[in-house]
Amino acid sequence: MQTRNLIGGEWVGADSGREIQVRNPATDEVVAMAPDCGAEETRRAIESAAQALPGWSRQTAGDRGRVLRRLADAMLRDQERLARLMTLEQGKPLGEARGEIAYAASFIDWAAEEGKRLYGEVVPSSSPGKRILTLRQPVGVTAAITPWNFPAAMITRKLGPALACGCTMVVKPAEQTPLSAIALGELALEAGLPAGCFNIVTGDAKAIGGEIFRHPAVRKVSFTGSTEVGKILMKMASENVTRLSLELGGHAPFIVFEDADLDAAVEGALATKFRNAGQTCICANRIYVHAGVKEEFVRRLSGAMEGLKVGPGDAEGVRVGPLIDDDAMRKVRAHVEDAQGRGARVVCGGRPVDLGSGFAKRFYAPTLLDGFTDEMLVSREETFGPVAPVRSFETEEEVVRMANDSPFGLAAYFYTRDASRLMRVAEALDYGIVGANDALPSTAQAPFGGVKQSGFGREGGRQGMQEYTTVKYVSWGI
Ligand code: SIN
Repeated sequence: MQTRNLIGGEWVGADSGREIQVRNPATDEVVAMAPDCGAEETRRAIESAAQALPGWSRQTAGDRGRVLRRLADAMLRDQERLARLMTLEQGKPLGEARGEIAYAASFIDWAAEEGKRLYGEVVPSSSPGKRILTLRQPVGVTAAITPWNFPAAMITRKLGPALACGCTMVVKPAEQTPLSAIALGELALEAGLPAGCFNIVTGDAKAIGGEIFRHPAVRKVSFTGSTEVGKILMKMASENVTRLSLELGGHAPFIVFEDADLDAAVEGALATKFRNAGQTCICANRIYVHAGVKEEFVRRLSGAMEGLKVGPGDAEGVRVGPLIDDDAMRKVRAHVEDAQGRGARVVCGGRPVDLGSGFAKRFYAPTLLDGFTDEMLVSREETFGPVAPVRSFETEEEVVRMANDSPFGLAAYFYTRDASRLMRVAEALDYGIVGANDALPSTAQAPFGGVKQSGFGREGGRQGMQEYTTVKYVSWGI
């Protein structure tokens, strides 16, 4: 499959004619080629976005919303095709890919409506001869740098609000997963989005990112990816004082109190831990279970984990697909070996799964490690794989302290049936997202984002829309 980039409403290749290979993570087969673009193509994309800006931002929110709703409808109409494309390039089970397309469309659909509610204010003045007004205006040309783990939703979570607010955008999708982005571009044109409002540039991350931060027309960049890269982008953003939002790494604690509904907690742990084979920024990394119920929790969780089928994402009944690449596999193996070497007990899994010839060696068995400690890699780094480390705790104070003892602050989860504890712990956890008796908190109308080294800015909800507006104060003498 040969694909092209979207610049100014035209489908184009790289100036150099060079291409990057897109591989199926389950088999390592090359399934498509995408343009290997750099700074020059990015400059043209930014300039197309700048040209499209006045026309798009002057449309009414209702008119913009109609285009966006047509895009969301087209995504749902083509859900099966888009899901299969996603599984091909990213590896996740088809059921999850279908879910991601619906999730991705929901950001476009929700923003289409919310764009109509970007209210300004009239503020009481202290002078009889003056009036004070605030206007919410589009930021301008924006750019999105998106990851491979959610190839559609991490684009639409940025694109939907940007377009709904009247901004235009240049998207640089992850090198591993350009196909979902390109398919979204095709549907956006079909939905009637004017040329230049949504541009897609694939290829050399350094050259494309460099141009995004160098070009003065780009007024805001939204990035989802690692904390390491986020720190580099912060430095690059200082050149033009480009506005940023960063959704970076996480290291989510998952706490089960002695009064929890254990079945719900096990179901929640499975859902958050094994979604996308553990390759999400908000999946549980450290599971703390009260000493009084730990043995029973471990028994039930390992029983449920043994039933998770590992295999290629397009095979029937598969719940855990391949890891994205060989480096990811090496990291998972290193984390498990390190934990075992430091005394953790492997309750289940703890080994790669060999699917035989024709398949890449990137499948890892759902693994439950009992007795993790602070020194282990699993306690400090994102494993980004199907590994669930568990340890016990005695008191609420102790577990909140352990949960907060991390440079990351994206998502945290806990299970309890005590309403007072629920509020107390939700307030005490130093995280941007808290799932209280809920392991799947992500949704279009809620603000997603972290604190500490997990980044800043919010995506989704009213707060996510505001990221794409600037407040202008008009002082009006009458
Ligand atoms: C992420 O892993 O960053 C996204 C997860 C989500 O949207 O639920």
